[in-house]
Amino acid sequence: MPKQSKQNVRLTDDIIPIHYKIHLAPDLDEFVFEGEEEITLEIKKPVRSITLHSAEIEILSAIIFPSPLGRGIKGEGQPGKISYSEKEETATFTFPIEVKPGKYVFKFVFTGILNDKMRGFYRSKYEHNGKTYHMGVTQFESTDARRAFPSFDEPSKKAVFEVSLKIPSDRTLISNTVQSAVMEHEGGYKTVSFAPSPKMSSYLLAFIVGHFEHIEKKSKSDTLVRIFTTPGKREQGRFALEVAAKCIDFYEEYFGIAYPLPTMDLIAIPDFAAGAMENWGAVTYRETALLVDEDLSSTQNKQWVALVIAHELAHQWFGNLVTMEWWTHLWLNEGFASYMEYVAIDSLYPEWNIWSQFVYLEQSRAAALDGLANTHPIEVEVAHPAEISEIFDAVSYSKGSSVIRMLAEYIGKADFKKGLHVYLSKFKYGNATTSDLWKSLSTTSGKNIGKIMDVWTAKAGYPLVSLSQSNGKLILSQERFYSSVSSNKNSNDKTVWPIPMNILTPTSVGPSFFLFDKKKLVLPIGLTHEAFIKLNARETSFIRVNYGDYLARLKVPLAAKDKRFKPSDRFGIIRDTFALAEAGAASTSSPLSLALSYTHEESYNVWAEIASDLGKIGSLSVDQRYYKNFRNYAVRVFSRVGKHLSWEKKKTESHSHSLLRSLALYSLGTYGDKKTVERARELFKLETSGKGKIPSDLRGVVFNLVAENGSKQEYEIILKLFYKATLEEERDRLLRALCLFPDKKLIRQTLTLAFGHNMHGQDSLKAINFVLSNKFGRSLAWEYLKSEWETIVERFGGGHLYNRFIEPLDIFNEKEKAEEIKNFFAKRDRTGLERTINQVVEQIESNADWLARDGKKLAEFLSQF
Ligand code: BES
Ligand code: ZN
Repeated sequence: MPKQSKQNVRLTDDIIPIHYKIHLAPDLDEFVFEGEEEITLEIKKPVRSITLHSAEIEILSAIIFPSPLGRGIKGEGQPGKISYSEKEETATFTFPIEVKPGKYVFKFVFTGILNDKMRGFYRSKYEHNGKTYHMGVTQFESTDARRAFPSFDEPSKKAVFEVSLKIPSDRTLISNTVQSAVMEHEGGYKTVSFAPSPKMSSYLLAFIVGHFEHIEKKSKSDTLVRIFTTPGKREQGRFALEVAAKCIDFYEEYFGIAYPLPTMDLIAIPDFAAGAMENWGAVTYRETALLVDEDLSSTQNKQWVALVIAHELAHQWFGNLVTMEWWTHLWLNEGFASYMEYVAIDSLYPEWNIWSQFVYLEQSRAAALDGLANTHPIEVEVAHPAEISEIFDAVSYSKGSSVIRMLAEYIGKADFKKGLHVYLSKFKYGNATTSDLWKSLSTTSGKNIGKIMDVWTAKAGYPLVSLSQSNGKLILSQERFYSSVSSNKNSNDKTVWPIPMNILTPTSVGPSFFLFDKKKLVLPIGLTHEAFIKLNARETSFIRVNYGDYLARLKVPLAAKDKRFKPSDRFGIIRDTFALAEAGAASTSSPLSLALSYTHEESYNVWAEIASDLGKIGSLSVDQRYYKNFRNYAVRVFSRVGKHLSWEKKKTESHSHSLLRSLALYSLGTYGDKKTVERARELFKLETSGKGKIPSDLRGVVFNLVAENGSKQEYEIILKLFYKATLEEERDRLLRALCLFPDKKLIRQTLTLAFGHNMHGQDSLKAINFVLSNKFGRSLAWEYLKSEWETIVERFGGGHLYNRFIEPLDIFNEKEKAEEIKNFFAKRDRTGLERTINQVVEQIESNADWLARDGKKLAEFLSQF
C-alpha cells in the first residue's frame, strides 16, 4: 500500500492573529475557569467561517467586530455559529454574512477545566499552613494553549498576548511580563493584569496562580531575576538564582542580543510533566530541576539544576526570540538548547569539565536510540499533536545537540558564534527553518553548511567508520550503524555521510579536520608512520569507530595512560567496543576484557559509560547461571576506583571525583561487594538513630544499597523518611529505594502508593521506571503497567510523559515478551506510541539475539571470575 501523505492539520495563512487580550477567572476549589477573550486579527481573503484551535473548552459566545471597534456598520458584530471538531481540536465559526478582508476583533466568552493532567491550564497540589491548596499552572507546549483559550495555536502564528486573571487576594499571579495593574474586588478577590508580551508563539505563554514566595537579584544588564517557590522553600532557590543571573549575562554576550524583558522568573511547580519549560520570562520547573539544599543535595543534582537552567535560558533566544516554523523543526529548538546549555555551563563552571560529560549524557544516549532501525530523522514530518509529543526524544535533543557540536568544532567556534548572531538578528520575533540556520552559518564560515548537514538532519541513523589495513596502508570506510544484527541484515541503506574527521596521532598538533564524504578512503598516514592513531579525536563527530585488529595497538597507549588521549578519547574507544559487541561485530568478551584495562581511569564520564555498558550486560545476563560470575567481574572492574576514592569526601576534590564516588560505590555495592554494603547499612543506622548524617553525595547510594539488601523492616523506615521529606530530590531518592527491594510484595506496595492520589503527577512514571530497573521487579512492573493502562491513558494520554511509560520496557531479553508487548498494544489506540513500541520491540528482539549468539562465550569468559 502506498504511504498516505500526512493529513494537513495546519490552520490557514489567510487569517493572522495579531493581539490577544485574555481574561480568566479560575476557581481553585471547583477546578473550572471562566474566560473572556478578544483576538485582534487580520483577514486577508473574504471568508464565511473562521477555524481556530480549541479543546475541552465550551465557547458560550463568539462575535466578530470590525476593528477598530465601531468602524463597521453601526459598529455591530456578527455572531459566529459554533461547531467543534474534537479530533482536530478546533472550533469553527460560521457567519451569516461574508467577512471581508480587513482587521477585526473576535470576542469570546467561554468556560474550561482546570485539569489534573499537567497540560493546558492545570492544577497542582501544595501544602501551606497545614492545609492542602491547589495552584493553577499552565503548560502549553506543544499544543495545549488551546485547552486554556481559543487560539491560533501554532508556533508560526506569533502575536502579542495581554493577560489578566481574577484570583483570591492572598495569592500571587506570575506571567511572562510584569504586572501592570491590580484591582481589588469585594469578597476577597483581585484582578491582576500584566503588560503586553513580546510578539511570540502561543506555546510560550504562561500564568501561574498560587501561594508563592521568592528571592531575587539583578543581572549585570539589570534584568530582575526571581526564583518563586511554594511557601517555606525559597532559600532552596539560592543556587538557581546565581546560575540564572549568570546565564543571562553569558547569553547576552554570546548571542550579542539583549534579553528583551525586564524580568526573568523561574518557578518551581510540584506537579510537572517535563523537567522544565521555557515560557518567555516565566520558566517553570519541576522542583528537582530548580531547588538545591546545601546540606542534602548531591553534586549530581546541582549539576542537573545548572544544566536545566542553562537550557531553558538558551531558549529565551533560541526558541522564543526565533522560533521553529513548524514542529518538524523542533530539533532547532531542542537540539540547540541542549548544545548551548553545555557552552554556558562550561563558561560558568570551567572546573566541572562539562564537555567531557556531553559525550556520555548526550552522544551515548543519541547513539543508542539512533542505532535502531525504528529511529527517525532529526527532521521529521509530524501532524497530529500526539505525534508531536513523541518526537521530544533523544534524536531531537541529543542527536540534535551532537550534530551541532560536530559542526561547531568543524567550522570553528568563532564563526559558529557569529553565524548564530546573524541568524538570531535576521529572524528575531519571527520563525525560521533548519536551512535558514545553515544559510547564516554559511555566510560566516564561507563553507556550504547545508551540503554537509542536510544528510545528518534528513537521514535517520549515523555512520560506523571502520579502519582496516592493506599493504601497509590504512583504509577508512563508512556504513550505517545498526545495534541490532537483524535490523542490519534487513537494511539496504546506502547513505554516505559527510563526516568531519579529525585524527589524533602522537605527532598531531591541535585539531585538523578533513571531510570524509566517501564510502572509502585511503589515509595518507602509513601504518608504520605513527605509533598509534585515534579517529575522531575528542569524539566531536557523531559516529562510531570499528578499529578491528588495530584495537590491539591502541591498548598500549591506553594502558600507559598516554596524556594525548583525552577522557573523551578513552571514553569513545570503550563505548564503541561495547556497541560493536551488541551489534554482533565482536564478541562480548572483547569489551569486557578491555574494561579491565581501565581500572586506573579517573574521569567520571568514562566510568559512567562503563557502568552503563556493564548495566546492559548485567541486564542481559540476569537470568543466566553465569550472572554471579558477572557480578564478581563487575566488582573487580570497580574495586580499584572505589577504594581509591573511599567514602570520605576530600576537602579539595574535583567535581568529577565527587560524581565518581557515588557511581563507583553504588556499582560496587549493587554487584555484591560485601564491605560496601556493610558500610552503607552502618551509615543508614547512624542516620536513622540520629547519631550521624549521610553525606549528600552518598544518600542515594546508601538508600539504594539498604533497599537492595533489605526487607520489611528497612522498607518501613524508608517509607517513613519518604513521607517526612520536604526536599523533592530526597523524596525521589527515597521513592527509588522503595522500588528496589527484592521482595515483590514490597515493590507492589510502592507501585500502588505511586499511582495513588497523594502523589505528584510525575511519580507513577518514576516508580514504573525504578521497578523495571530492579531485576526482581521487571515482570511485576509490566503486569502492573498493563493492569493500570486505562488509568495511564486517562491521565497521560497524548501528553509529554505518555510514551515514556513504554520506553523502559526495552530491558527484556525474551522474544515472547516482545510479542506480548506487541499484542497488548495491537488491540489498543497507539496514537503517539507507535514509534516507541516499535523501538522497544526491536531492542528486545536484539537483546534476545545477542544472548543467543554470545551467551555461551560470555559464560566462558566470565567463568574466570
Ligand atoms: N521545551 C522543553 C519542555 C517540554 C518538552 C515541554 C516537551 C513540553 C513538551 C524544555 O525546554 C526541555 O527541553 N526540558 C527538558 C530539560 C532539558 C534540560 C533537557 C526536559 O523537560 O526534560
Ligand atoms: Zn528545551
